[in-house]
This record gives sequence, structure tokens and C-alpha cells, in this order.
Amino acid sequence: MGQITHPLRSVLYVPGENTRALKKVSTLEADALILDLEDGVAPAKKREARENLKSFLKSAPPDKYITVRVNGLGTQWVEDDLRAFRDEKIDAIVFPKIESHEDAMAAEGLIEEAGFAPKTRLWFMIETPLGVLNIAQITRQPTRLECLVMGTNDLVKDLHARHTPTREPILFSLSLCLLAARAGGLSVIDGVHIDIKDRQGFLAACRQGAEMGFDGKTVIHPSQIEGANDAYAPSRDELEEARKIVLRFEEAQRMGKAVTLVGGKLVEALHVENAQRLLALAEKIKR
Ligand code: COA
Ligand code: MG
Repeated sequence: MGQITHPLRSVLYVPGENTRALKKVSTLEADALILDLEDGVAPAKKREARENLKSFLKSAPPDKYITVRVNGLGTQWVEDDLRAFRDEKIDAIVFPKIESHEDAMAAEGLIEEAGFAPKTRLWFMIETPLGVLNIAQITRQPTRLECLVMGTNDLVKDLHARHTPTREPILFSLSLCLLAARAGGLSVIDGVHIDIKDRQGFLAACRQGAEMGFDGKTVIHPSQIEGANDAYAPSRDELEEARKIVLRFEEAQRMGKAVTLVGGKLVEALHVENAQRLLALAEKIKR
């Protein structure tokens, strides 16, 4: 297990059957891609989608973290999906609808059986009530597991909930998965905002996810990338404060103290740790 060092502010779904979208990707600023073979691809197009993705991967943008979402455990496609990508240059395989410890271990077993290189990581989508309830068991053991992705549309549907602007109906589920991810040292990505035209709602959801602690947001359209990149990057004020915190704390330590004040606020070692995390992220996204 281990957290990714690559930024994951915007994680773009690209359906494998959409060759126009695949062509567009190299011009887009998404930090990561989920090349999709599952719900974004009709059953009759699964084979074609695999071929499209394999040719896309021959000249994939080198700056992006690249994952492939395979079809679910137990479907007629998943094993062929895995075989098709075993020798491709990808960073991780995304498994949809992981619901239990058994699912988690089965997914890891399939990756091993298919013969993926040891460095290929696992991402799990959590998108059902059972998956949320079992999250601590799901994240406990798989050694390749690196990231959780929230599937909030499936979740809202299964809960018989409604999509609301402030997302109260799913906040408990989001929080539980975030807790499990952090407890296990994993990355964790928020769900999509399906109303592409609703810019204000999208930005509010990005802010909310960033405040909660998510590493980034899954997005479905190029118009959502910039907002996610912005919301999940440390702001200029936060970076300025982070630099001060690191400096002041060093000074304090030289004087034999374990605490100091920056802008009237208490600074201890834990604040320095957080400041260093923000500065490291800023370095990677060239802020
Ligand atoms: N990735 C990369 N490029 C995308 C894209 C995506 N997800 N969605 C749209 N684009 C491209 C289009 O190809 C188009 O570029 P082009 O003119 O060079 O071809 C441009 O962005 C503008 O697209 P637009 O015309 O506004 O949208 P569209 O009608 O082509 O597509 C959707 C709209 C919703 C069908 C499409 O965005 C999509 O399929 N998104 C992903 C959905 C998905 O993966 N769902 C499963 C997970 S929730
Ligand atoms: Mg889903």
C-alpha cells in the first residue's frame, strides 16, 4: 500500500469507444485518466473499446497518471479486459463496485493471475451501500491497493437518495471512505458531477470535497478539469502561510521550543507536516 506521489486533482473518465475524446486527451490538463471499459462503453462495443485504448496507449501523454477501468468482477468481460492490458504502459487498474474483503482479494488475485508487473497498482471504486459498510475490510489487505474512487451516482441510486447541492444524503458515506483511505495510507478521489452545464454547483462540490480531504475529483468533461485542478491545489495564501510555518518552526526549534505562533495561530510539528505536504504538492503542479 502507499499513497501516490502523482497529483490527482482532476481524474478524467474517457470512454474507450470514444475515439474523438481519446484524441482530445493530449491537449487537456487532467492529472490522471480513467480509460473506461465499463459503464461508459456499451456491451456491443467492449472489444472495439479495448483496441481503441491499446492504440491510444502507444502514444499516451507522459505527464498523466493512467488507469484503465475494467468491467466488474464476475462479468463476461473482465478477464479479457485484464489480458488485453497486461503488457501495456499503465499505472493502475480500476475495479468497479468493490463490496467486500472477498471482492478486494479476488480483484488482486485476477491482477496477479493475468501477470501484471508488480508495480501496477489497484484502484477500487466504492459505489454501493455494501461497499461503504465494508470499507475497513476492503482496504485492509490488498498489497497493490493505492486509491479509492467514489462512485456517487450508483450510490445515490442504491440509497434511493436525491442529488442535492450540498450532498448531505451521501456525506456520511463519503466521510467513512475517506477515513478508511487515510487510515490505510491510500489516496481517495471524489465522485463526478453529472450536470456539465452547472458550473457553480460543480465548483461548490469541488470546494466541499477539497475541504473534506479528498485528493481530487473524477470529472467527465474537459470543461470540468480547470475547476477541479484549482480547487484541489493549495491556494497562494495557503502556500505563503506554509512557507512561513516551516521557517518559523525551524527558528523556534533552534531556540529549543516545540511551539510557535504564525499570524497569531499556534504552530506545532503537526502543522509543519501539513505545510510540507502542501509545499510538496505545489512543487509537483508547479504552483
Ligand atoms: N474526455 C476527453 N475528451 C472529451 C470528453 C472526455 N470525457 N468528453 C468530451 N470530450 C471532448 C469531445 O470529444 C469534444 O472534442 P472534439 O470536438 O475535439 O471532438 C469536446 O471535448 C467537447 O465535447 P462536447 O461536444 O461538449 O461533449 P460530447 O457531446 O462530445 O460528450 C459526453 C459529452 C457526456 C458524452 C462525454 O463528455 C463523455 O462521454 N464523458 C464521459 C462519461 C463517462 O465516462 N461516464 C462513465 C463514468 S461516470
Ligand atoms: Mg458505476
